[in-house]
Amino acid sequence: MKKLASLALIGLTAGLLSFTGGAMASEGQKTAKDIDFSFEGPFGKFDRQQLQRGYKVYKEVCSNCHSMRFVKFRNLAEGGIFTEEQVKALAATYTMKDGPDSNGEMFDRPGLPSDAFPSPFPNVEAAKSANGGAAPPDLSLITKSRPGWYGTFNQLWNGIGGPQYVYSVLTGYEDPPADLAAEQPEGKYYNPYFGAGHWIGMPPPLSDGQVTFDDGAPNTLDAMAHDVAAFLAFTAEPKMEERKHLGFMVMIYLALFSALLYLVKKKIWADVH
Ligand code: HEC
Repeated sequence: MKKLASLALIGLTAGLLSFTGGAMASEGQKTAKDIDFSFEGPFGKFDRQQLQRGYKVYKEVCSNCHSMRFVKFRNLAEGGIFTEEQVKALAATYTMKDGPDSNGEMFDRPGLPSDAFPSPFPNVEAAKSANGGAAPPDLSLITKSRPGWYGTFNQLWNGIGGPQYVYSVLTGYEDPPADLAAEQPEGKYYNPYFGAGHWIGMPPPLSDGQVTFDDGAPNTLDAMAHDVAAFLAFTAEPKMEERKHLGFMVMIYLALFSALLYLVKKKIWADVH
């Protein structure tokens, strides 16, 4: 009887958890598309070439509106995406506000590896007014802060799906359904994957062939969205590979330790009948 009661309790808790998970999705929102990334699973690793391409998409397209203030240029060298020389050069292509100088004036200077990816706007109000009232969110942690799937078990199984969410938003622009088309707000686009309602203030940022990759990889909308989503998974968790590696070593250690404890226990109790 007791066992049955605890089973029921577990079931109830799980049900409640998946219900609250579901409640986070806005009405009519589609679940993120389930696409594969090289870094999934316990042995997953980032694909460095893909991250280079993703960076290029961010730099040429997304950085016109989105900052990444928790990511420093040198993080790209630390993550093995670019060499330190390359990072110096790419940092210098950004303009940073610095100062005040000895006259009390702010001045512009080229970026350094120790700088973070700047915002293209001087402040939030400017960002809003340039984008029809919706400020483009900082992208450093976006793949950690947006769930791609709903329901506890789904997330346990598939992870939170943040990179899939980013991919789905970028590839998810559609014509609005007939019953909604009449109420389309000015400057908003229909995107059923967007987490805060299906009208998004971001114009479709990518289209086929927009960015040319140095490694000659395909540059369809799909491929570019995949690459930039992988890059944003890196910025949100640059040490993911170390974490997985450590986790694996800890599992091996625990397994060996358990075996050892078992043998010791057998030895100690061998003479007790
Ligand atoms: C022209 C400016 C502009 C460009 C270029 C742009 N974005 Fe956006 N983006 C926005 C704005 C504005 C929003 C906020 C939309 C809203 O809240 O309705 C946004 C929202 C988003 C969101 C949704 C965030 C959320 O709140 O769930 C993601 C993801 C995103 N952008 C990723 C990107 C990526 C990746 C690129 C480059 C491929 C990009 N954006 C290029 C302006 C832009």
